[in-house]
Amino acid sequence: MKKRVLSGVTSTGKLTLGNYLGAISNFVKLQTENELFIFIANLHAITIPIAKKELATNTLEIAAWYFACGIDPNVANVFVQSDVLEHTQLSYILLCNSYLGELERMTQFKDKMQKTKQQNKTISIPTGLLVYPTLMAADILLYEPDLVPVGSDQTQHLELTKTLAERLNAKYQANLFKIPQQYQAQHSHRIMSLQDPTKKMSKSDDNPKNVIFLSDDLNTITEKIKKAVTDSENIIKYDIEKKPGVSNLLAIYASITNKTIAEAESYFASKDYSFLKTEIITTIHNLLAPIQEKQQKYLSDQASLIKLLQQGAENAKKIAASKLQEVQKAIGINYQ
Ligand code: TRP
Repeated sequence: MKKRVLSGVTSTGKLTLGNYLGAISNFVKLQTENELFIFIANLHAITIPIAKKELATNTLEIAAWYFACGIDPNVANVFVQSDVLEHTQLSYILLCNSYLGELERMTQFKDKMQKTKQQNKTISIPTGLLVYPTLMAADILLYEPDLVPVGSDQTQHLELTKTLAERLNAKYQANLFKIPQQYQAQHSHRIMSLQDPTKKMSKSDDNPKNVIFLSDDLNTITEKIKKAVTDSENIIKYDIEKKPGVSNLLAIYASITNKTIAEAESYFASKDYSFLKTEIITTIHNLLAPIQEKQQKYLSDQASLIKLLQQGAENAKKIAASKLQEVQKAIGINYQ
């Protein structure tokens, strides 16, 4: 049986190698056997300050990366969140059923609030930051997905989504919402920051040295990997606790080459860090160069790219609209 898989990516920055290895490459594998809905969360992107031009550019660039990485527009539905109005409509209904306390308790909200305060020296926190998880819950619940692939940093948001679904089911109509399940790919390693390998590699990282972007050229990759944190042992072994930097490099290598960590370890046994880094630079560049070429092709024909996104939105809307109508009926908004 085909499973419905739904995931979103916020259009706040440029996509990273972590996005590719942790998410996109997995979607490519999932797309043939399942029904995929992947959207670019441009409404989530405006919960933090972002320039108009950057937001629009990011949105198209991300779409082009997805297709260039092998997401097939003929089998997967890729769309832009703001093109399917049902997301915001359902999010309002969920908002009316969520509590201030539970939203304030979200660790991402607390982190982002801290960051906003530090950066702007202000105590004014945009409400969008607080209600971010209710929009995410709407994104998910509209589609009744079987699986929601997200990183572990999104687990709390997914738990809240379940809570909201159960709350509305109890209040209005059992089975109104399907309870979503998080999906973490097996055998996929968490790709970490190059300078602080205890943190995940994040596209919203302020320091570009922490991150390999999908758009990085050979020189940039070389510079970043050469400066990546290791340790002074010069022994290539996987040990996240004691050797987070080297372990991260091994994980990157293993993920790209489809090797197990043990295979990667034995390949590098008796080699030094300089050899490890040189190999990784080549491996990353060989992966990214052809993808970059394809991405440029997609970007150079914007009209066709937009058409693909609109087709995706149309397919998504069929499902989202019927769910929203059901919800509106169940709560009495649909009065006719
Ligand atoms: N918040 C998610 C992230 O930062 C992106 C996202 C938004 C999402 N809506 C979603 C992921 C719905 C899965 C399902 O990674």
